[in-house]
Amino acid sequence: MAPRTFRAPGRVNLIGEHTDYNDGFVMPAAINFSTWLTLFPLSENRIEIYSENFQEEVVFDFDNPQTARAKHWSDYAIGVIVMLLQDGCKLRGARLVIRGEVPLGAGLSSSAALEVVTAYALAAHSELNIENHELAKLCQKAEIEFVGARVGIMDQFVSLFGEANKALLLDCRSLEYKLLPLPTDANLVVCNTMVKHELAASAYNERRQQCEEGVRVLSGLLPTVKALRDVTPDQLETHRERLEEDVYRRCRHIVTENVRVLAAAEALEQGDLGRFGELMYESHRSLRDDFEVSCLELDCLVEQARCVEGVFGARMTGGGFGGCTVNLVARDSVEGFKHLVGDGYKKATGIVPEFYICEAVNGAEEVSNEEEQGGD
Ligand code: GLA
Repeated sequence: MAPRTFRAPGRVNLIGEHTDYNDGFVMPAAINFSTWLTLFPLSENRIEIYSENFQEEVVFDFDNPQTARAKHWSDYAIGVIVMLLQDGCKLRGARLVIRGEVPLGAGLSSSAALEVVTAYALAAHSELNIENHELAKLCQKAEIEFVGARVGIMDQFVSLFGEANKALLLDCRSLEYKLLPLPTDANLVVCNTMVKHELAASAYNERRQQCEEGVRVLSGLLPTVKALRDVTPDQLETHRERLEEDVYRRCRHIVTENVRVLAAAEALEQGDLGRFGELMYESHRSLRDDFEVSCLELDCLVEQARCVEGVFGARMTGGGFGGCTVNLVARDSVEGFKHLVGDGYKKATGIVPEFYICEAVNGAEEVSNEEEQGGD
């Protein structure tokens, strides 16, 4: 049988940060950086996974399966295999050759792209007929149960459901979504701080716990509350005294962020980029001061961007503690933006940032071998 090639994109989140695991709203877009996978059928009872980036190979043997994570890049792919088998799927042997172009550790969901491309390719190869909603949930489960990061569903979902030139407004409770047109006269410019602080993973799980603590207290006072999604900013203020200060501020970020996402969707539909940009700045401020997941480098990039003409808005994107900012920049200001923000950031931190001009692309798909892109 001939090899088959698949692709799953990374993502940038325009607004709605840390709201996904609170049953709230998010607005990511799939971006023009993908993880590519070429699948060669194998008659043996195993799956070989080779990473071109790491030049390493890992073998999953069906007769002697790996059951625990190895704290290795392959955990994301193995986790998906383990979840498929746990669900009773019969997998066929294969060799997977993987090439990732999503910058690693930058908060652009290289891990979700790897999970999704693996699940998508194995499902196609083994003729499993799994619907994309189920694939998204399975990939999220792999990351929670196998890798040990209690992530929400945003990254996996948009890597499957993203569409070219569209942002995706997702209700993380019902998984209903709406595609919103991205402006044609402005670009999404992603700036990479080039740092990733140690505490990112532990702080992520800690924030989740604090949100759960908020729900525990608030649901005792407001019986309809099942998640922070169900709390309005007014209700939170009314019961402020019942919450520890830290927990209160974490909750305040979530409930105000949900309001901002819906307002941002409206602004985008009306083509009001000024309003959209203001909401991005407010989101950043809330993540910095209330949710406390920003860092000096992210704050510096946002402040630099604010001073540049043609910038509508800027904010950190992804989990935080390093990684990237997302900026909405008028098309003819992009070159100046790169120059000014690059210089300002280098002066302040000594680090040269990377810039990615992002386009929104379609979610995971099989590509014919002619279409497959060559190296970068
Ligand atoms: C990471 C997680 C997502 C989401 C973001 C924060 O990217 O994988 O589920 O929680 O952080 O918005």
